[in-house]
Amino acid sequence: MALLEVEDLDVRFYTEAGVVRAVDGLSYTLDRGERLGVVGESGAGKTVSALAVLDLLDEPGRIEGGTVRFDGESLLDASPDRLRTVRGGRIGMVFQDPETALNPVYTVGEQVSEAVRAHTDRSGDDAHDRAVALLDRVGIPDPTTRATQYPHEFSGGMAQRVLVAMALAGDPDLLIADEPTTGLDVTVQAQLLELLDDLAADDLAVQLVSHDLGIVAEFCDRVLVMYAGQTVERAGVEDLFYDPKHPYTAGLLSAVPRIGDDRDRLSTIPGVTPDLSAPPPGCRFHTRCPYAEDVCTKRDPPLATTDDVTHRAACLAYTGDLDGELTFSVEIDGDDDRGERR
Ligand SMILES: Nc1ncnc2c1ncn2[C@@H]1O[C@H](COP(=O)(O)OP(=O)(O)OP(=O)(O)O)[C@@H](O)[C@H]1O
Ligand code: SF4
Ligand SMILES: [Mg+2]
Repeated sequence: MALLEVEDLDVRFYTEAGVVRAVDGLSYTLDRGERLGVVGESGAGKTVSALAVLDLLDEPGRIEGGTVRFDGESLLDASPDRLRTVRGGRIGMVFQDPETALNPVYTVGEQVSEAVRAHTDRSGDDAHDRAVALLDRVGIPDPTTRATQYPHEFSGGMAQRVLVAMALAGDPDLLIADEPTTGLDVTVQAQLLELLDDLAADDLAVQLVSHDLGIVAEFCDRVLVMYAGQTVERAGVEDLFYDPKHPYTAGLLSAVPRIGDDRDRLSTIPGVTPDLSAPPPGCRFHTRCPYAEDVCTKRDPPLATTDDVTHRAACLAYTGDLDGELTFSVEIDGDDDRGERR
């Protein structure tokens, strides 16, 4: 049995401008110790789906359908008390922006101790000792002294480590990290990834949400690509990066900047993400897809198997409904293969 099983998850936001279908039919699993990357452009639904898994959506967001099972237990049916125990306990979470996640008026040691008290039966000095051990575990030098300091005395990278320490307080089986390295400089990013790598080697499953395909390529075992609230491709990391099957993924890969290339990453697929209160009919990507045919505006492509059952793509090319062929190929190490993919 998988550690986390998400099936057919639907999330809607009820806004004045209409009903936003932010996540639509999302399904995936995560095994113990496995690392899943979730990628896609801004607005794809990466954060909303991570929050939905933990039942943390705020109004006007609502889970409209689907199931989330963690270690066999249905989280969407769990009581609020039970959810609080699982969240931050067996499932740790790290979100972007450590400066706002830490409370400026308490010391770092107090905040980590509080997380320990909330998710274990330790209290008093015992909780404090555990907090210092956690700060040490996440690579904070001189953790005893650092525990007495306030968040403003920590750099962005060190503050993010503190959040990882808090997420580990309940000795979780799964860590959900949403853009944990965004805003950190490259060296600090690499150090933080090394820490996550080390933790995952200890059998911690990690769901890593990231804009950064390089980070996902390096860190993850499997990848889920989201577009406009839906999964468009799901595969093992090497299959996805060397042999993408969905035109959107191929576009994302061609948009990865090379060394010396100062374009914004993921910004070069022409067109914009559709308005999710009125998504395009048929394939949601048809407004931007260079291979779109008439049928793409009418039929919603299922997440079909491609040449391999573990490599799935939501494109009508894999259901026999397309007249033409997808002709892209990706040579990651090529000099400049961008022109050949389209
Ligand atoms: N409070 C809200 N009210 C209405 N719509 C919302 C709300 N929060 C999110 N959405 C919609 O849900 C969709 C998915 O948003 P989400 O934050 O999950 O994107 P994301 O993939 O995490 O993007 P980013 O890479 O920018 O973090 C977006 O289209 C967004 O407009
Ligand atoms: S179904 Fe059509 S529009 Fe959608 S990705 Fe495939 S070819 Fe492009
Ligand atoms: Mg997000």
